[in-house]
Amino acid sequence: MRTDYCGLIDQRYLGQTVVLQGWAHRRRDHGGVIFIDLRDREGIVQVVIDPDTPEAFKLADSSRSEYVLQITGLVRGRPEGTTNAKMISGQIEVLAKDIVILNKADTPPFQIDDENLSENVRLTNRVIDLRRPQMQKNLRLRYKVALLVRNFLDTKGFIDIETPMLTRSTPEGARDYLVPSRVHDGQFFALPQSPQLFKQLLMVAGFDRYYQITKCFRDEDLRADRQPEFTQIDIETSFLNEEEIMSITEEMARHVFKEAIGVDLGEFPRMQYDDAMFYYGSDKPDLRVDLKFTELTDVMKTEEFKVFRGAADMEGGRVVGLRIPGGADFSRSVIDEYTKFVGIYGAKGLAYIKVNDVSNISNDPDNSGLQAPIVKFLSNDALKAIIERTGAQNGDLIFFGADKRKVVDEAIGALRIKIGHEKGEAGGYFTKSWKPLWVVDFPMFEYDEDGKRWNACHHPFTSPKAEHLELLKTDPGACKARAYDMVLNGWEMGGGSVRIHQADVQSTVFDALGIGEEEAQNKFGFLLDNLKFGAPPHGGLAFGLDRLVTLMTGAESIRDVIAFPKTQRAQCLLTNAPNAVDEKQLRELHIRLRNPVQTA
Ligand code: AMO
Ligand code: AMP
Repeated sequence: MRTDYCGLIDQRYLGQTVVLQGWAHRRRDHGGVIFIDLRDREGIVQVVIDPDTPEAFKLADSSRSEYVLQITGLVRGRPEGTTNAKMISGQIEVLAKDIVILNKADTPPFQIDDENLSENVRLTNRVIDLRRPQMQKNLRLRYKVALLVRNFLDTKGFIDIETPMLTRSTPEGARDYLVPSRVHDGQFFALPQSPQLFKQLLMVAGFDRYYQITKCFRDEDLRADRQPEFTQIDIETSFLNEEEIMSITEEMARHVFKEAIGVDLGEFPRMQYDDAMFYYGSDKPDLRVDLKFTELTDVMKTEEFKVFRGAADMEGGRVVGLRIPGGADFSRSVIDEYTKFVGIYGAKGLAYIKVNDVSNISNDPDNSGLQAPIVKFLSNDALKAIIERTGAQNGDLIFFGADKRKVVDEAIGALRIKIGHEKGEAGGYFTKSWKPLWVVDFPMFEYDEDGKRWNACHHPFTSPKAEHLELLKTDPGACKARAYDMVLNGWEMGGGSVRIHQADVQSTVFDALGIGEEEAQNKFGFLLDNLKFGAPPHGGLAFGLDRLVTLMTGAESIRDVIAFPKTQRAQCLLTNAPNAVDEKQLRELHIRLRNPVQTA
């Protein structure tokens, strides 16, 4: 029935008769002439219906927003002054000869081109929301990215192997989603947090190069870049070291960005994890923001000022400065807003110094080129060191963070991003660009203050650096892993590692983690046993597909590149999941609720 897509009709069709099908995007009645913008997945075309075709005119007149129409008409040029250079069909219009109403539509909850919709409204009415051209574009880009990935990996000899969704829990650091077993009273499957253990087993099984574009499930606190179910491009290889794995996956990222959105990411620089934390307080630094921490902990060890001295003397404490070029003209209220902002991350305050005249560094508040309530509490030597180390110039402002390392890194790290994004373009310390990098040499373990134990930074199957094997027993905190993260514009796009393939190293790592032999056997026996049957050296990486596509589209949240996402509170507003279930279903699953909910 249809001859063409609405959005693709252009001057080449002039004088031709076309049959189009789509939705009435907008209808305008211009006294005597009706205009309908007809929309399909390729875009919009303007249809003109005049009273000379009374039958069509009557139907056009009764059509409403989102009616499904079939329009047969003649393509003609638009009158001068009414063309639209932004649309493919912007030079033409279709003069309707015949209209068929294929289906009526209730009044939609919002106009498709309304830009100011709350996310709740969008997610509740997701089907209508998905009709919006931006959403159509996002999901088509997502498809294209997945296709490019598949083709790229195929040419490199990778094969796609599916792994189970109903399985045992894989330790990726989040809570599991559990699925009760009907057949086995009181027992549960876990949905995979990632295919980690299965892909390692596939290496032991000799597949050499595996990939999968697959769902992962993690019950964790949600943010703009996190969903409870999300999609990984999961990769594993045998007999390759970290350099080779990083080289293949970097090439893939470059290829996909180039082909999908025409962006050349160039070669990815490398940054040590320690440097990333030292200069940016983050293991995924946004390098578009040209601001760095200045270490001041040593300087403050001999100062009287309690706020700084206390942090400098504290075990695991840190004092840093963050120089903001041109920041001396920040108003009181702007500084107050930033002080409140760092409070979210646990900072107890946000000291600052305005730099008016670097040739007059003094702690005499009545005669100093430095201006701030805290100037009088610091020695002249400390003030000199601050100015020298930060490289501050007249007109700059320096913020300070002083606390436990974690608080300082998170608070000042987040402040760096916020100021960089808000003021950086005007201030010359933010460039709109693509800044990929590898963060390498992650520690094996991080200390859990609450549980008083070491946790794996990546996961417990990550190999330590060969030269750090001894440290596993003597100084776990200093032991570095053969792990790497791919970071782009402040987002962790992917992460991976070379795995442990020798049973003795694996048990030393379990020791360091406080996982006993019995617990290890109980939880991961199926991996450990199989590692003994000639496991090849192996390693890999997983990309977050949702994040990759979000970055490409410039969307704020990964929810904008997922057809049917969950809210921040892990609910689906479209289907109203999760929901209460019948007593009968629970009974079959051997479940009795502690706090019964009324079934809907
Ligand atoms: P990791 O836990 O780092 O590694 O996950 C890999 C990548 O998946 C993405 N990601 C997420 N995306 C959206 N929502 C989430 N909740 C979410 N969690 C993670 C990120 C991240 O970089 N098995 C290892 C990989 C390996 O070692 O090969 C793993 O899962 O982009
Ligand atoms: P106070 O002595 O608490 O009045 O703080 C003096 C100055 O130091 C104020 O500008 C506070 O905002 C700031 N300040 C307090 N605690 C910290 C901290 N942990 N890190 C950075 N600045 C702080």
